[in-house]
Amino acid sequence: MTSTERTLILIKPDGVERGLIGRILTRMEERGFAFDAIELREASPEILAAHYAEHTAKPFYPGLVAYMTSGPVLAIVARGAQVVATFRTTAGATDPVKAAPGTIRGDFGRDWGDGEIRNLVHGSDSPESAKREIAIWFPALADG
Ligand code: RTP
Ligand code: MG
Repeated sequence: MTSTERTLILIKPDGVERGLIGRILTRMEERGFAFDAIELREASPEILAAHYAEHTAKPFYPGLVAYMTSGPVLAIVARGAQVVATFRTTAGATDPVKAAPGTIRGDFGRDWGDGEIRNLVHGSDSPESAKREIAIWFPALADG
């Protein structure tokens, strides 16, 4: 039986603003993954509090909200066997300075000198997180 694993990807405001939507989507298309949904969205503080629930009490959270609400994001549901782990390795390490060349963050990211980690993309970190996040961003696509 074919896996129906899905992941929630966000192209964050810096990726949209810098004109990298096409190149980022191409990387997943080139690896053979399909998309169930692609939508340009404004991330509200409410949706971010749900999405980043594990981080709301952390010192970097206000800066993270300012970053994520600085412009539109492209919200994507991608599908395929092992898509969660495959996108995480394609995205690279959280800090673009440490992300390996060849990854999205390692090829397009840098430290902009203002203390904010702008790393272009989000990807669910586990199949369970993906289910939770898809229900937040695309309730009509949520599993039962
Ligand atoms: P994401 O959830 O966005 O895919 O990123 P991630 O798993 O690689 O990293 P995570 O630890 O979940 O952090 C979420 C996002 O918060 C920002 N961050 N800033 N200033 C800081 O120390 C700091 N730490 C995290 C980043 O935008 C990170 O992607
Ligand atoms: Mg995360």
